[in-house]
Amino acid sequence: MRLFTTTAGIRCYLKQHRQGLEVGLVPTMGALHAGHLSLIKQAKTQNKIVIVSIFVNPLQFAPTEDFQQYPRQLEQDRQLCEKVGVDAIVAPTAAEMGIISTTDSELTQVVPPPSMTSVLCGRSRIGHFQGVATIVTKLLNLIQPERAYFGEKDAQQLAIIQRLVEDLKLPVQIVPCPIVRESFGLAYSSRNQYLTPEQKEQAQVLYRGLAKAKNLFSLGERDRTPLINIVKQEISTVPAFQVEYLELVEPRTLIPLEQVAETGLLAIAAKIDSTRLIDNIILRNR
Ligand code: PAJ
Repeated sequence: MRLFTTTAGIRCYLKQHRQGLEVGLVPTMGALHAGHLSLIKQAKTQNKIVIVSIFVNPLQFAPTEDFQQYPRQLEQDRQLCEKVGVDAIVAPTAAEMGIISTTDSELTQVVPPPSMTSVLCGRSRIGHFQGVATIVTKLLNLIQPERAYFGEKDAQQLAIIQRLVEDLKLPVQIVPCPIVRESFGLAYSSRNQYLTPEQKEQAQVLYRGLAKAKNLFSLGERDRTPLINIVKQEISTVPAFQVEYLELVEPRTLIPLEQVAETGLLAIAAKIDSTRLIDNIILRNR
């Protein structure tokens, strides 16, 4: 396995090794866990060459957020990638990615539709999805993969990237991958490292609430209010949790739904102490 820290390095590697072979890209910010590894495994089944990018993207963090604190563990990530058969890691510096400062108003950026960036996480994370869209576009241009892999854990990010690829006619297939959870239901996240063991246990309530809504849905409930209320009720059993939003939206357009016709995305963001966690569940008619 190769590790490149420059864009020239990975370009040169691809020029030599590509030779018509299909390339899969798994974009990450590192601190790899079972969620990331499931994306890599999926990529391995569909491509001859699998590239993982590791880049803590300053453009997607607000000044008040955890950019400095975000876990960085490249050596551990390198070993994990090697073990699961990744062909190359690209872990560039910000300067290599053409990012000099987070407030760089001179930088060309990709602006997704406001209807998709002003809802859910976008309401509190101003500029976040523009930062994501910009870096993902740069990575797709750099690697030019046949396929790129994104987790349903970040459902809003996935919807925005799918729309971006469609609107900008980028020649790549976006492959959505299911959420991977710990045995007790908590979705894997690099930010789970911030949780104390007690908070980790309390955080199970997110999935418990969502699972209750899914059960209600399977019993025939389609209306927004009862589906949302049952999650709220469950979360209120852990007073340490502060719900930031709890919404029912259409999964591709992110338009709020009063009722689920075909498919609904029930998404939540909540804070425990200063750690912000997100989770979601898809409600789908069979
Ligand atoms: P990061 O949080 O490192 O996540 C990288 C990818 O792993 C994303 O597509 C995310 O949805 C997926 N992922 C994370 N936890 C998961 C889980 N428990 N189950 C399934 N998939 C999971 O998302 C980002 O990085 C960044 O925004 C990025 C796309 C790399 C752009 O900077």
